[in-house]
Amino acid sequence: MLDLFSDEAPWQEPLAEGAVILRRRAREEASALLAAIAAIARQNPFVHRITPGGYRMSVAMTNCGDVGWSTDSRGYQYSERDNANGQKWPPMPDLFRTLAQQSAREAGFSDFTPDACLINRYEPGAKLSLHQDKDEKDLRQPIVSVSLGLPAVFQFGGFERSEATQRVLLEHGDIVVWGGPSRLRYHGILPLKAGVHPDAGPYRFNLTFRRAR
Ligand code: SIN
Ligand code: FE2
Repeated sequence: MLDLFSDEAPWQEPLAEGAVILRRRAREEASALLAAIAAIARQNPFVHRITPGGYRMSVAMTNCGDVGWSTDSRGYQYSERDNANGQKWPPMPDLFRTLAQQSAREAGFSDFTPDACLINRYEPGAKLSLHQDKDEKDLRQPIVSVSLGLPAVFQFGGFERSEATQRVLLEHGDIVVWGGPSRLRYHGILPLKAGVHPDAGPYRFNLTFRRAR
């Protein structure tokens, strides 16, 4: 079928004060992003990490950048090396950094310089429970989150886990930026529905850019 929207320019959808979806913003660079993710995963493979509570996460993770986020029996932390194998995280590709900086600027955050990029891989059924991103030092810096591959339902809530959430579908190339008064909002991903994406196969990938230190 003819895709009437395939050439449409990206557009913005506000979520809350300081939070916006940049729809299709990463469409042009999506193939290059996926190729870079594959190259990073060859250096430092995706791993289902274990939470401090002893649960195996359904989302598989790796990182690139000066520091990476991970979890193990000792807790959640940013570190220069992957505790799973002792290796330094692969460097953040320029393409990643530039996309994150430009997206943050478009969302109103002019001096975002990410030092960490968490790469999440969701398979069917994988989910991320409601949580806050609060392990970073400078909470004035926003979060930039890039969705690739299969679509997923993103929950965006308030400042208590129990508050009602908005549910929005995030698709290939969508970017969400949240910061300022929304920086500590709870968010999560509902269990991924099975499917096959032409460029990403049976997966959803998410790049989460942060200034951690
Ligand atoms: C996250 O909160 O770390 C990831 C959110 C997502 O996968 O879209
Ligand atoms: Fe998060």
